[in-house]
This record gives sequence, structure tokens and C-alpha cells, in this order.
Amino acid sequence: MGGVFQVDQAEFIEQARQFQLEGQTIAVVKNNAYNYGLDFAVKAFAISGIDYFATTSIEDAIYIRKICGEKVSIFLLNPTTDFKRVKKYKLEITLPSLDYYQTYKNDLVGLAIHIEFEGLFKRSGLAHIDQLAAILRDAKDSGSTLNIKGLWTHFGYADEFNGIYEKERQLWLDFVEGVFDLGLKPSVIHAQNSASFVRDGIFKSHSHVRLGIGLYGSKPFKNLDDKDFIQASSVTAPIIQIKHLDKGMSLGYSGAFTAEEDCKIAIVDIGYGDGILRERIKHGCQIGGRTYKIVALMMSHMAVLIDDHVEAHMPVYLYGKNQRIDHFTALGVGANSEQLGALNYNSMRRDIVYDD
Ligand SMILES: Cc1ncc(COP(=O)(O)O)c(C=O)c1O
Repeated sequence: MGGVFQVDQAEFIEQARQFQLEGQTIAVVKNNAYNYGLDFAVKAFAISGIDYFATTSIEDAIYIRKICGEKVSIFLLNPTTDFKRVKKYKLEITLPSLDYYQTYKNDLVGLAIHIEFEGLFKRSGLAHIDQLAAILRDAKDSGSTLNIKGLWTHFGYADEFNGIYEKERQLWLDFVEGVFDLGLKPSVIHAQNSASFVRDGIFKSHSHVRLGIGLYGSKPFKNLDDKDFIQASSVTAPIIQIKHLDKGMSLGYSGAFTAEEDCKIAIVDIGYGDGILRERIKHGCQIGGRTYKIVALMMSHMAVLIDDHVEAHMPVYLYGKNQRIDHFTALGVGANSEQLGALNYNSMRRDIVYDD
């Protein structure tokens, strides 16, 4: 229980300001705002100028409405059948398939709908423009008017440089043209995640970019400049004991570590139960600016091979200014969002550093 996830509010806002496209950004705040904390992140994004939010959870969407009031727009990425609360809290919803339309067409009347295209990602969405044509025909035949406010897709290949993203992008842009050809002109067209936005800027026909990880200060792919992605967070934990091991002595479950020579070990109050990935510990931790090897990972503790520079009061850093999340992503630890999403909100303390 000793781990601390600390965020500097001013740095977080500075990053949101420098990465957003002013007036044209939908901030993705799903999964507890990439684990930065929904309440903290939404308020900080609002201060930075963002007034459009997207999330997968209707509870989170309602929470955003309650803290931000009517001045923001909120788009629910996952399909919902909770039309009563959608109406009450003025949420915008996705139309993810022809089946969904056919089942719920009466409930959709009057709601702000965003048509979803599945593209190459195929998580959900219409497969082909003909399906949208069928929906429009059916709506016309039954004398109802759909409020098609938005059009969207999600890219699954924007951080890859092997030619697939270009195909995915073209497929989407063709779909958008197809929508225009059907006589529709949705006011909100959004497809681009952080990687696509960094690569291409906003597409010509689009009103918004829909950004996650770049707003949170991690690079969506390698070889970008650190200063364009301010990581406002750190993860630290205290040392709870320093132990001396004689050569040949073992420590941890099933003797996870055996000393090759007499050595000192720091037992640190954080483990995989707090969300520290096994892949992450392969790259060590920092204490007093020096890097040390992590020799065992347990549910709530880890063991670090230390030297005489380390004293019991020193914090142990797993993430911080010199230990960027995106650096570990580049080393193969897992996606930025995977490392953040793994952190255990219930077991780690959250500290927010405010300027005043
Ligand atoms: C539907 C959707 N849109 C946008 C994003 C934001 O992507 P990124 O964090 O890469 O900017 C995500 C993230 O997974 C997503 O699922």
C-alpha cells in the first residue's frame, strides 16, 4: 500500500494545452482517464480549454455532466440501451450496427447520434456505406428523422509504419465521401487518435480529433521529441527495510533471488498487486538518481539489489521524469495505456501537486 502515483496539475494542463487542437479536440477519458483520475483529468482538461469528452462508461459520462454542467459535449463510445439517462443527461451516442438500429430505432428518435464505421479495426461500427443507406431509407419510410450529429471511426494501425495505416485511412476517407454522397453533412466528424493526429494533422473534412495518450503526456510512437510530451506523473514507493544477504542466501517465493555474493537488498512497498508489470521490472528502478536492479517482484513488495548510496528514507522511482512511460513502451514493456491502465487505483495513493 506504499505506492504513490503523483501528478503535477500545472504540467498536466500545460501538456493538454500544447497537444490539443484548439476548439477541435475531443478528450478521451475512458478507464478513469487513463488512470490519471476522471475527476482530476476532466477538470484539468476543462481548464486547458477542452469542452468535448468521450468515454466508454455511461456512469463516467453522467459524472462529467454533473461536474462540467451543460457547457460541454459528452460522447459515449460504447453502444448503450439506457436511453432514459442518455436523454436526461444530454449524452451523444454511437450507432454501432444495422442490427442496433433495427432493434432500437424508436428509441433513437431525438437523440444526438454519431454513425460509427468499423474500418480495419472492426471493434464495432457499420461495415459498409450500404448499411447507412439502408438505415436512412428505413427512417424515411417510417417517417422518422434521425439526428445524425456525428461520424466516427477508430484507427488500429496509426502507430505502425508498414503501410497498413495508409490503407485504413483511405478506407475511412472513402466512407466519409460516401456519407456526403448520401446527402448527409454531420457537424462533428472525428477519427484521429494521438498517433494519427501527430502524423497527419487534422483531416480536411474533419471537425475534431479524438485524443488520448498524447494529452496525457506520452508519445504515441517512437522518435518524437520529449519536450512535446510532458509526463506530469511519477510512481514512487518507500523502502520498508534494508537487508543483508550472505553469498548463497535466497530471498522471496521459491527463492526468487539467490545472492551471488554478500549484498544489500531494499524491500520496497509496491508490487504487481499495485499494477507494476512484470515486464516493467526488467528495466530496474531509480533511487537517488542511480539505477538499480529489481531482483524479485511480489504482490505488494519488490526486492532491489542496492549499494551503499541507498538509505532507507529514499523514495524508489518506477516512473518519473527520467523514467518515461513511453521509454518503457519503446523497450517492449507494453503500450503506454497498458502500463497506466494496470496501476491499481484502489491500492496506490494518489497525490496531486497544485501550484498554490
Ligand atoms: C475509440 C477511441 N478513440 C480514441 C482513443 C484515443 O487513442 P490514443 O490514446 O491513442 O490517442 C482511444 C483509445 O484507445 C479509443 O479507444
